[in-house]
Amino acid sequence: MHIAVMPEESLSLLAVRPEGVYLDATAGLGGHTGLIAARLTSGLVIANDRDSESIEMARRNTAEWSGRIRFHRGTFGELADAVAQAGRDRLDGILADLGVSRYQLTDPRRGFSFTADGPLDMRMDQTTGTTAADLVNFTDEKTLADLIYQLGEERRARRVARAIVRARPIRSTLHLADVVLRAVPRTGRIHPATRTFMALRMAVNDEPAELDRLLRDAPGLLKSGGRMVVISFMSLDDRKVKERFRTLGREGRATILTRHPLQPSESEVSRNPAARSAKLRALEWKE
Ligand SMILES: C[S@@+](CC[C@H](N)C(=O)[O-])C[C@H]1O[C@@H](n2cnc3c(N)ncnc32)[C@H](O)[C@@H]1O
Repeated sequence: MHIAVMPEESLSLLAVRPEGVYLDATAGLGGHTGLIAARLTSGLVIANDRDSESIEMARRNTAEWSGRIRFHRGTFGELADAVAQAGRDRLDGILADLGVSRYQLTDPRRGFSFTADGPLDMRMDQTTGTTAADLVNFTDEKTLADLIYQLGEERRARRVARAIVRARPIRSTLHLADVVLRAVPRTGRIHPATRTFMALRMAVNDEPAELDRLLRDAPGLLKSGGRMVVISFMSLDDRKVKERFRTLGREGRATILTRHPLQPSESEVSRNPAARSAKLRALEWKE
């Protein structure tokens, strides 16, 4: 079972009411969905994810509250459909816990991990779109370098891209990790392939544009007084959330509930090291 990140902070900022209607935009393995559902009586959680395998796991993990949860498979651009299909109009709360789940990261079949061999896939939704193998094997060197530099914030992106192009065809996650390791030796504590894998994952899943869609559309799905909580793990994402929330605050459309982002407590990080870099921001909608 996935351990929900910052559970108390998320629930208290969502201010879950027993009869409320909530949208978990990133159901994952159902950690937060279950926590919200457990607090409802006549209320509902609409649990969305673009990954159908994750939805099936979330369904099993939250079976105890199945009467209070409607699952929906879709992207951030399709959240209004998720709400309409559940027969609801506006929401009391929205939660988005960005990125990939522990299951996606660690199951070698999904291709996100460089610690176990698997296909270079990295698609959250495996029914559609470009895979990481398509990107590394068919993108020209300059585009690949720009992508690794911009999305992975990898300073040695040019060297990595050149090594990838020379090593084509790249067949698996470990093959790619090895190519990167040979091109850029280990300097700090993180594996040299970390940033390259992160950049590819973000590109494969169109993550920057997806976050823009979430921040553009989701607040308007809230009732007046409804809350939105976003947990991000990457500085690029947190910066975007901060800027969008600030704009909504300045325009008088929302009140920002977290002047500074909340971060997990030391005891949470020691229980769940994956929570280490989480930053949580919340707003209350006024319109
Ligand atoms: C960090 S996990 C969520 C974990 C979940 N909160 C839990 O406690 O089990 C993020 C999830 O969001 C999904 N996701 C990421 N980007 C998405 C997008 N643009 N549209 C829909 N789902 C997305 C991923 O497939 C993944 O399952």
